[in-house]
Amino acid sequence: ESFDLGVPPEFKSRTPPYAALLGRLEQARKILDRPFTLAEKILYSHVVDPEEAFAGKNGNIRGEVYLKLNPDRVAMQDASAQMALLQFMTCGMSNTAVPASIHCDHLIVGHDGAAADLKASIATNKEVFDFLQSCALKYGIQFWGPGSGIIHQIVLENFSVPGLMMLGTDSHTPNAGGLGAIAIGVGGADAVDALTGTPWELKAPKIMGVKLTGKLSGWSAPKDVITHLAGLLTVRGGTGFIIEYFGEGVEALSCTGMATICNMGAEVGATTSTFPYTDSMKRYLIATRREPIANAATAVNKMHGFLQADEGAHYDEIVEIDLSTLEPHINGPFTPDLSTPLSSFGETVKENNWPEKVSAGLIGSCTNSSYQDMSRVASIVKQAKEKGVQPKVPFFITPGSEQIRATIENDGFTDVFVDAGAKVLANACGPCIGQWARDDVSKGEPNAILTSFNRNFRARNDGNPDTMNFLTSPEIVTAMIYSGDMAFNPITDKLRDANGNEFLFEPPTGDELPKSGFKQGDLSYLPEIDPAPIISTQVAVSPTSDRLALLEPFEAFDGKEMKLNVLMKVKGKCTTDHISAAGAWLKYKGHLENISNNTLIGAMNEETGEVNKAYDFDGTGYGIPELMIKWKDEGRPWVVLAEHNYGEGSAREHAALSPRFLNGRMILCKSFARIHETNLKKQGVLPLTFADEADYDKIKSCDALETLDLLEMLENEGKGSGLITLKATHRDGSEYVFKAKHTMSKDQIDFFKAGSAINYIGNLRRE
Ligand code: F3S
Repeated sequence: ESFDLGVPPEFKSRTPPYAALLGRLEQARKILDRPFTLAEKILYSHVVDPEEAFAGKNGNIRGEVYLKLNPDRVAMQDASAQMALLQFMTCGMSNTAVPASIHCDHLIVGHDGAAADLKASIATNKEVFDFLQSCALKYGIQFWGPGSGIIHQIVLENFSVPGLMMLGTDSHTPNAGGLGAIAIGVGGADAVDALTGTPWELKAPKIMGVKLTGKLSGWSAPKDVITHLAGLLTVRGGTGFIIEYFGEGVEALSCTGMATICNMGAEVGATTSTFPYTDSMKRYLIATRREPIANAATAVNKMHGFLQADEGAHYDEIVEIDLSTLEPHINGPFTPDLSTPLSSFGETVKENNWPEKVSAGLIGSCTNSSYQDMSRVASIVKQAKEKGVQPKVPFFITPGSEQIRATIENDGFTDVFVDAGAKVLANACGPCIGQWARDDVSKGEPNAILTSFNRNFRARNDGNPDTMNFLTSPEIVTAMIYSGDMAFNPITDKLRDANGNEFLFEPPTGDELPKSGFKQGDLSYLPEIDPAPIISTQVAVSPTSDRLALLEPFEAFDGKEMKLNVLMKVKGKCTTDHISAAGAWLKYKGHLENISNNTLIGAMNEETGEVNKAYDFDGTGYGIPELMIKWKDEGRPWVVLAEHNYGEGSAREHAALSPRFLNGRMILCKSFARIHETNLKKQGVLPLTFADEADYDKIKSCDALETLDLLEMLENEGKGSGLITLKATHRDGSEYVFKAKHTMSKDQIDFFKAGSAINYIGNLRRE
């Protein structure tokens, strides 16, 4: 109790309920009776009822048991918050069940510099920001407006705490693991679970231990730990795992460095990443004005070892990295796992015919804009200034938050950067998420940029699919743009100073934390710590808006066997990008009807080989969403057939919402990507897989499909054979009966019957 009681009231909502967590951990321990890793401790102590969850299980439950979890908090960014809040609104609650925050960061352009870009972006996105702010006021959510900073940096500075469990509607939410939290990126419907106090379900992940030995030095930075690890694991290597770092190498890392490492764990598909409690975490908590929380964390760790793995804890896999010999890495292009050590990068550039020149250098973003990053970069820029040289290409800096911006300005770094010709952009995502209004390179022109960001998919930064983004540490980005040559290795290669004399950069140096403390900057960005809901607030949604629309609940299940028609058969790979394209469609994230016009436009028709083409009964061809809309208007529910790993990629919930909105009631495929399958269930769509894959070939578009024993399965709460019998009636009248598999749990059956998870939660709240 003392850990919690010692925390002053204004820190309460930001401190995990340590005493209660220890109690539940004890329950889990009694049943599972084995040493736990750190990630297990945090997760299992957030299980709603450990006795029910673990009863009858012994030993290892990872990869087997579904955990029902109670997260401590939720964070949402402006693009994904729209649908999360629209769904939350339909539940009829007057406030959120856990503390939550909204962050306006994704919709801000990077072009002319912070002031002008912010003004222009606020004007363009006013109705979205107004909507988010009105929701925040109404439901008692913290609102971090445009210019306040990037979600993950603000979470690290304010909310992340050792032992916390949080959900965030953004894939880089694991950044908070730098402060010892379990922070997981989810879609809006999952966030609504936490916002409404409904247990959030997750299959107990496996745990990958990454043992760090030695100590970073010279040019090597925390970024190199994860760029190197991404090369080892590949983009799928972390799927189904939490990555947990341990070993003596952890002790010498800064807290913000650990956040960088956790942030990019998303690039290997990990559920999240985390670190044990260190002195650097304590220093960071104190520096960010949270000393009472640091004291509580220190006490709970000292007395119970809560914030570190138990002696003898087992990891499903172990990777070892020696920080003393780790060299800088550069990853890319187009995939974050193509990792090349700096010493062989020049050669690799030549071998692959990548551009010889760098076209721009960009540092900052949620991944790398800590004080330590900026101070180390400043040390390089100062050296260059002394030698009288300037960067050869445009140089952009994106501070992660107003606090970082104000502190680096106060400590003179901003002047150093601006003096070197750098453009300081708004405290927002900007060029990291395609909001880079770039005018020096035209579309289609192959070019190479160096960034300290985390993702490098095609067209992600400037919309140009031929821009190759190479990911590395901010120190390496900065040193390389003074050469402008992609083959330049700042550790070994010399440059010429203003007088023509050769010089070699000294390795960067910097401070972990600002000696004179963090400056908060513009205080008007700071929301109230525990805002009370103002129930009378009108939520701002214009009925004529094309970007926002209130949600109508999906209709409940009619209690009859399903009768559907096959709209089309999808051939081959079908990711969430194929199902719900991003790019220009991002604008409509808050308007389900408008964004649904993109449904499956990237999918290939198995019968014709065409993309975005489906055929009606009379042979007329339509764009896929057009035919969906036509069939919806005709009252004809539909099913789409697909092949393996349907819905792989992101947790994008629009890929489930849009088909459902257009009257898709079933997806029948050879296999699903797990998160997408869950998303479909949450929206009331029935996901089934062929018991015999050969049946995919036997069914044709426009065939009628009927379930024969769905009602029985629902009645039995999903228990039984796990199979559903279906009858296909071909257009010539012949019939074919076959089996498909379902994975519906009791809860998911309740969602299905109610029409969606949100309907179900709303019904419960209203009862
Ligand atoms: Fe924003 Fe890029 Fe991070 S989009 S949240 S800065 S990954």
